[in-house]
Amino acid sequence: MAIRSILTGVGGYLPKRIVPNDELARRLETSDEWIRERTGIRQRHLAGATETAAYMGTRAAQAALAMANARPDDVDAIIVGTSTPDQAFPSTAARIQAELGVPGGFAFDLAAACSGFIYGLSVADGLIRAGNAKGVLIIGTEVYSRIMDWQDRGTCVLFGDGAGAVLLRAGEGTGPEHNKTDRGILSTHIHSQGSLGDILYVDGAVGRRELPGTLRMNGREVFRHAVTRLAEAVEEALAANNMTHDDVDWLVPHQANLRIIEAMGKRLHLPPERVVVTVDRHANTSAASIPLALAEAVADGRIQRGDMVLMEALGGGLTWGSALVRM
Ligand SMILES: CC(C)(COP(=O)(O)OP(=O)(O)OC[C@H]1O[C@@H](n2cnc3c(N)ncnc32)[C@H](O)[C@@H]1OP(=O)(O)O)[C@@H](O)C(=O)NCCC(=O)NCCS
Repeated sequence: MAIRSILTGVGGYLPKRIVPNDELARRLETSDEWIRERTGIRQRHLAGATETAAYMGTRAAQAALAMANARPDDVDAIIVGTSTPDQAFPSTAARIQAELGVPGGFAFDLAAACSGFIYGLSVADGLIRAGNAKGVLIIGTEVYSRIMDWQDRGTCVLFGDGAGAVLLRAGEGTGPEHNKTDRGILSTHIHSQGSLGDILYVDGAVGRRELPGTLRMNGREVFRHAVTRLAEAVEEALAANNMTHDDVDWLVPHQANLRIIEAMGKRLHLPPERVVVTVDRHANTSAASIPLALAEAVADGRIQRGDMVLMEALGGGLTWGSALVRM
């Protein structure tokens, strides 16, 4: 017998306001055609003043709890991946704990930029396997519109706002030798390389108030590292589970750029209809992008119980990683 972290619910929240590429092209030197060709993005949701990380994360978590038929007191840990918290402290996770009416346990934020959800899954799986938690909410919630330089066409066209959440619950499995039949998280792998911190970063925060706190990126370098690191991450996940690409039913990748997503799908020999894509409508919602994509594909019936799902992400840090989950 082994403890497994079973994914029992998933939900998302997107801000009401939708901004198509053409709207950006009216005030920036860019075009719908350029953005679509280079990134696959057609539109993004942008948060209004009251749609903060805590507000959106709470709504995504409520949807995940509803799908899992779970109550607030079934949750004993909340992990929030965000680079755009409402406040330095209390953590966004603690604010969401209060909003949800979760009576106890513990809650904290985790900073891993666009890899925040994968990092969260990894930490949560460790807590569950060690017996330190039985019901863990992992939430990715981001308002990158607040850290954009809206004059920089190289970055501001790429990102959107939103939140996604999953509920993991401790369940029984039979152990690593039965990875092909057990439900739940089969493996997570997380990595970082701090020496590459300056190719994608935010120049300031509450500890450096003299700086504006704006996202800066060397797009070409990030693209180059993303393709290499994510390919390695996919191979690492399969090798660790003695699996091949034939065992994977779905790729649910971080949604940064359609060209990177398609390259990963090809690497796994997956037909395009087995790769979940939301970047066209959501743009890059950072830590929220994977749970938002998963929520969509579960809600519309594409991803079914028993399916093998591979998730991967890369973000500022650099950080990157993968999670292999049987639904
Ligand atoms: C950002 C990205 C789309 C740029 O595409 P690219 O093909 O690498 O384009 P380049 O940066 O080489 O720029 C090519 C030209 O387009 C211009 N350009 C940049 N943004 C533009 C825009 N929104 N509209 C029109 N032109 C634009 C550049 O200024 C450059 O012009 P120049 O040659 O006159 O200097 C691409 O590098 C990318 O997706 N990188 C990964 C980013 C990412 O995923 N980040 C998040 C990771 S979590």
